[in-house]
Amino acid sequence: MPHSPTPAHLVLDPAFTVGQVDPRLLGSFVEHMGRCVYTGIYEPDHPDADTDGFRTDVAALVRELGTTLVRYPGGNFVSGYHWEDGVGPRHQRPRRLDLAWRSVETNQVGTNEFLTWAARLGLEPMMAVNLGTRGIDAARALVEYCNIPGGTAWSDLRVSHGVRQPHGVRLWCLGNEVDGPWQTGHKSAAEYGRLAAEAGKAMHQVDPSVELVVCGSSHDRMDTFGTWEREVLRHTYDEVDYVSLHCYYEELDGDRASFLASGVRMDAHIADVVSTVDHVRATLGSRKRLRLSFDEWNVWYAARFPGERALELAEAPRLIEDRYSVTDAVVVGSLLMSLLRHADRVAVGCLAQLVNVIAPIRSEPRGPSWRQTTFHPFALTARHARGTVLRVAADSPTVDTPAFGPVPALDAVATREEETGRLTLLAVNRGQEHPLPLRATPRGGPYRLVEHLALYDEDPDATNDAEAPDRVRPRRVPDSGMDAEGQLEALLPPLSWNLFRLEPVTD
Ligand code: AHR
Repeated sequence: MPHSPTPAHLVLDPAFTVGQVDPRLLGSFVEHMGRCVYTGIYEPDHPDADTDGFRTDVAALVRELGTTLVRYPGGNFVSGYHWEDGVGPRHQRPRRLDLAWRSVETNQVGTNEFLTWAARLGLEPMMAVNLGTRGIDAARALVEYCNIPGGTAWSDLRVSHGVRQPHGVRLWCLGNEVDGPWQTGHKSAAEYGRLAAEAGKAMHQVDPSVELVVCGSSHDRMDTFGTWEREVLRHTYDEVDYVSLHCYYEELDGDRASFLASGVRMDAHIADVVSTVDHVRATLGSRKRLRLSFDEWNVWYAARFPGERALELAEAPRLIEDRYSVTDAVVVGSLLMSLLRHADRVAVGCLAQLVNVIAPIRSEPRGPSWRQTTFHPFALTARHARGTVLRVAADSPTVDTPAFGPVPALDAVATREEETGRLTLLAVNRGQEHPLPLRATPRGGPYRLVEHLALYDEDPDATNDAEAPDRVRPRRVPDSGMDAEGQLEALLPPLSWNLFRLEPVTD
């Protein structure tokens, strides 16, 4: 196959630092939605269930994915949730009508089961409180239930439920997507801003060490995007630590070129929220610098979703179980690169969701579990992108996109581990026709190439499923290497996500 006529070039310089890779950037999300919890992480009748009813095969994949943090219990679900329904003896828990997804919630998994599962897997929990149908009192009671050792009504209730040690949950979301008209208990920015400020104050009164995330816009194309953040932050700036961003990306009308450039949209979204947050900071004369929590992001073919009101009322229904292609995996990889590029301001990232519901892991009731295509770039990034993020100075040919105009064919970011000097370069070829020749100049070498792995396929629509769970997986690219001048020479396959590992030559 002929190459792209113009090569791409980049410089990897240990001095071009952006910020540290916060492990919280590699988070995920478990919502009581569809089959994420029931028959996803939890299925007591499954042959691989542990004594608590959680699937060990799914837990093994969660470990392999390398996610660090998990947001819970929603999502839209949290805006109608009574957390008290999900604690105490299981046989006394009510079956509730969940308004968000028109489902029957059995409450067989609740706060204690989830937090115990997360702790066993070494995942930091990020809990959300209901600021849709509820408010200050339910929020402060939940913090007390989770974080106070004992001797108060709510903490003693937890102890009476068999959980002697407090869970010590640090990170809390003040509701979910409250700007969205679809949200149960949707509010104006002023209404929500006041409520979030007072709920946050009460939560801090219970436990001063909690960190709070206030809701930003549901996505960057909301009519109120920007004005919502400004008004909400005017009320909450002193009480909160992070503002949330959410966004889902999909290929529309066959426009794959723009879809492959979704990272351009995410970069602009982050930059817009940073500007808004810093504007509010200036108007308040505050010295505090808020960081961002991109706590829902993924590819989601939302245009195919019929809407909540069209759903049949059912227990653990199959909802938005999107099957991901190679193209989707390349986009997920590049979105994660965009988050890393903003490590100076984005502190938390949550791939939404973890199992079955627009997820990197799929599972079947009483059946197998497997890795979707999108699992691979996430897992490799989590394993190797460590230390300091480096801004790569790149020259690249461009590709034309209907949505964003000409964009660089090469999307790249790198990380460096201080102790070992090891470099990880992540690179996407957004071009669909030709391999892209890449020359990278790593400064401070010499280095040797440990490996070049790539996710690509002759069929960019190829997927994994229960019958062929490993149809798509990363492959080693054998012909890449260092030239005589110590430069990395490689060919990035068309429509590919790539990972290069370089280590200093010590002798
Ligand atoms: O992740 C699916 C849904 O997307 C979440 O419940 C909601 O927060 C968002 O709109």
